[in-house]
Amino acid sequence: MYDAATVRQAYREQKAAFRGLGPVRISYAMKACPLLGVAALLASARADASVVSLGELLAAKRAGFAPSRMQLHGNAKTDEELRGALRAGIGRVVIDGAEEVDRLAALIRRGGTVSVWLRVSPGIDVDTHTYLRTGTLDSKFGASISTGDALDQARRISRTRGLRLIGIHAHLGTQLHEAERYRELGAALATLARDVREATGVTVREVAVGGGLGIRLRADDRVLDVRAYAEAVTAPIRAETTVERATVYCEPGRALVGRAAVALYRVVATKRVPGVRTFVSVDGGMGDNIRPALYDARYDAVVAERAGATGGEVAVAGKYCESGDILIREVRLPDPVPGETIAIPASGAYSVAMASNYNHHTRPAVVLIDRGRARLIRRRESHADIWRLERR
Ligand SMILES: Cc1ncc(COP(=O)(O)O)c(C=O)c1O
Repeated sequence: MYDAATVRQAYREQKAAFRGLGPVRISYAMKACPLLGVAALLASARADASVVSLGELLAAKRAGFAPSRMQLHGNAKTDEELRGALRAGIGRVVIDGAEEVDRLAALIRRGGTVSVWLRVSPGIDVDTHTYLRTGTLDSKFGASISTGDALDQARRISRTRGLRLIGIHAHLGTQLHEAERYRELGAALATLARDVREATGVTVREVAVGGGLGIRLRADDRVLDVRAYAEAVTAPIRAETTVERATVYCEPGRALVGRAAVALYRVVATKRVPGVRTFVSVDGGMGDNIRPALYDARYDAVVAERAGATGGEVAVAGKYCESGDILIREVRLPDPVPGETIAIPASGAYSVAMASNYNHHTRPAVVLIDRGRARLIRRRESHADIWRLERR
C-alpha cells in the first residue's frame, strides 16, 4: 500500500537538499519501484528517469516520463535494447564497457548522434551489504578510474562518430549512510572530469553521482541527512573549475519510494519452539520482498489491529518453501494470532520490483492512497496469469 503524499514529499526534500548547490536534476531510479501508478507521481513532479532496461524505459514512458529525460544504464545492454532506446529517443545512454562504444556507434543511423555518459568505477568501498556495493574495483559495473580504463574509454568515445560524450557517472551502492564516501565520490568524479578534458578536450557538462541514500527501515537505523548528503557530494565538484557549472544528476530510488509503502500480511499460523523462537507465519514472504533473504535487510513490524501494543520477540516467517524465507528474524510483537494483520513499514523499494512467482504463489495487489482515496494500481495476480505464457 503506497502513499502518494509521501512520494511527493520525498521528491521535494531531495530537490530542496540541493538548493543553492548549483544546477541539479533528480532522476528517479525506476528499478526501486517500476509500478506505473507510483512512477507517474514522480513524472508529474518533473523528475527525470533512470532506467536499466528497455522494459523499464517503456514503463517510464507509460508513466509519463519523456524519453529525452531518461538515462539508460546497464553493463550488458543488448543490441535490441540499445536499438529500442535509440528509437524511443533516449536522452542519455550510459556506456558501461569498452565493447559498448563500437556496438552503440554501429547502431546509430548515419548522420545521427546520441549523448552519452561514461560509467566509471571510482574504487570506493562503502559500509553496506556486499551485494549492495557497486563502486569498488572488484565490481562488474563501470570502467575503473585507477586502472586507466575510464580515461581510455573516454578517449575512445570522444573519437567515435555519432557519440557525444557529455557526462560521467558513478554509483557507489545502495542503503548508504556515510557522508565522507559521497565526498570521495564527488572528488573522484571532479578529478576525472579534469583528466578527461586534458586527455580529450571534451568538457564534461553532466556529473552523475548515482543514488544510494539509505532510509530508516527500523526506528534505530542510522541514516544520513539528505542535505548533508547533497553538500558532501557536490562540494568537490563545485570546487573544480572544469565542472563547477556542470549539472549534477542524482539518481535516488529508495529515498523516494522506500518509506512510502506499508506491506500488509495476514497471519496464517504460529509455532512456538520453547527456549528457541516463536514463528509467526504470514501469507507472503520472499516472493513479494526478497530483500531479507537476499541481503539480510532488517525491517520493523506492528500488528495493525493493535499497533500500539508490544510483546515478546518473534520471527515473522514467509510462506515460501525455503528456510531462508524469514521476513523479520527478531521483532517484538504482542502475540499475533491467525487472522490478524502484520504491517511492515518502509517496504516501498525493491520489494514489488523484485517480486517473483516462486512456488507458484501469486503476487499481491498494490493500492495507492492519494488525497484520501484508495486506488488499485496493480491487481492481485491470478493463477491463470502465471500460466499464460506456457504450453503443455
Ligand atoms: C545506477 C544506479 N543508480 C541509482 C540507483 C538507485 O539506488 P537507491 O535506490 O539506493 O537510491 C541504483 C540502484 O542500485 C543504480 O544501480
